[in-house]
Amino acid sequence: MQFFLDTANLEEIRVADSWGILDGVTTNPTHVAKEDIPFLDLVKEICDICGDRPVSAEVVATESDAIVKEAHKIVKVADNVVVKVPVIREGIKATSILSKEGIRVNATLNFSPSQALLAAKVGATYISPFIGRLDAIGHEGMQLVREIRQIYDNFGFPTKIITAAARHPLHVLEAALAGSDITTMRFNIMEQLFEHPLTDSGLKMFLDDWHSIPEKLRTF
Ligand code: E4P
Repeated sequence: MQFFLDTANLEEIRVADSWGILDGVTTNPTHVAKEDIPFLDLVKEICDICGDRPVSAEVVATESDAIVKEAHKIVKVADNVVVKVPVIREGIKATSILSKEGIRVNATLNFSPSQALLAAKVGATYISPFIGRLDAIGHEGMQLVREIRQIYDNFGFPTKIITAAARHPLHVLEAALAGSDITTMRFNIMEQLFEHPLTDSGLKMFLDDWHSIPEKLRTF
C-alpha cells in the first residue's frame, strides 16, 4: 500500500520524503489556507519536491464548466499534478470531461459506495473515502473502503482507493487489510507509524551492552 502525505506544508513534505516512504501528496483548500504562498506557486513547489509522484490539488468551483476551467489551470503547473474534484453531481460531470481529456482526477469528499461507483464509471483515477469523518458521526468509515474495494474488484474498475481522513495508525493498518491502494495521512500519523516503546527500550539495552565492551574490542 502506498503512503501519501495529507498536507500543503513544504517542510513536512521534505521531511517525509527524506524517510524514503513518501509515494505522493494530497492537498485541500484547508491545508492551502495554512500556508502563506499563492496557490499555484505552492502546488508547483510541492510537485517539484515530489518529482514524478502524484500531487493532488483541489478545485474550488462547484459548477462543471468552471471546474473544468480550474482543472485546466491546475494541470499546467506540472506533469505530476492530479486534480481533486468533489463527488457532487457537477463534479462527476466535470470528471467525465476531464478523464476523456486524459487528466487525472482524485474524486474527493466521498462518503458512500454509490458515489465511488459513479466516480469510477466516469474514469476517476483515484477515489478518496473520508473514513475519519464517518467515524466521527457514528458510522464505520472503514466499511466504506471495504465496500468500494469489493465493487471495484467485481467490475475491474482501475480507480485507485485513497483511504483519507485517517485519524490514527490503526486506520492505516485497517486500510491495508481492506485492500486500499493508498492511505493519505497527516504528518503526525506518519510519524507515529515508526514508534514502538519496545523498539526504544530494546535499542537502549543493545547500545548500553555495546558500550560495556572494552573500547579496543569495539571495532568494525
Ligand atoms: C484527503 O485527500 C483530504 O485532504 C483529507 O484526508 C481530509 O481529511 P480531514 O478530515 O483530516 O480534513
